Amino acid sequence: MTRELRFAANWKLHLGPVEARTYMQTFRARYRRHEHRDVWFFPPAVSLEAAAQAVRERDDLWVGAQDIYWEPKGAFTGAVSAPLAAEAGAKATLVGHSERRHIFGETDDDTRKKVAAALAAGLAPVLCVGETLAERESGHTQAVVNRQLAGALGGMDGAKLAQVTIAYEPVWAIGTGRNATPQDAAAIHREIRAWLAARGVARARVLYGGSVSLKNIAALLAEPELDGVLVGGASLDPATWAELVQTGAT
Ligand code: 13P
Repeated sequence: MTRELRFAANWKLHLGPVEARTYMQTFRARYRRHEHRDVWFFPPAVSLEAAAQAVRERDDLWVGAQDIYWEPKGAFTGAVSAPLAAEAGAKATLVGHSERRHIFGETDDDTRKKVAAALAAGLAPVLCVGETLAERESGHTQAVVNRQLAGALGGMDGAKLAQVTIAYEPVWAIGTGRNATPQDAAAIHREIRAWLAARGVARARVLYGGSVSLKNIAALLAEPELDGVLVGGASLDPATWAELVQTGAT
């Protein structure tokens, strides 16, 4: 079966609407479509529409939200819901990114409500999981990842589960310049796949994130357990990102 690769750019709190338009122009000038690859962009909410407009006739380029609130509308000042993100052009959303969990105090139960809200609005959820350094060093990586999977996805039926992409992002690797080795990532990816397979998902899609760069992308993608990557810092420059997503492409 042909390997399908997904490259996801998490811009975090960077690139407003004006910069997003320029970014997309540069990216599109440098990236030609490659079969079996898709590229997803997660801009800040205020740039969703600008980014989505710039890729609207390209089905291999998707735009998504970095976070959503689970209620569709109402008196929730500052929140963005899944239906509103979809209206702005989002086709996907991150859920449970480690910065949401650790800086904004998001819980496993919050992630459960967000995954459900995303699916209800037709957004493809990308559930982020991963352990801290202390959890890794005390041998709890798998327990933490399983708890996060169960917290967000426990009890969900197989058809819905199959629509969820998982991003394994060890917290100690995010923005630190210290990536997980391809072998370390693969070991966790296998466990994630096993967790999903036990619940009826035959072909889970699992991305790796954490200090992915032009220096390590080839080695990471050489590991067949990786279905792609979720990238922060190295996605902010459109020329670098265009080069990164074409790694190994013919
Ligand atoms: P960096 O690529 O900057 O380490 O960030 C990873 C990340 O958090 C992507 O969601």
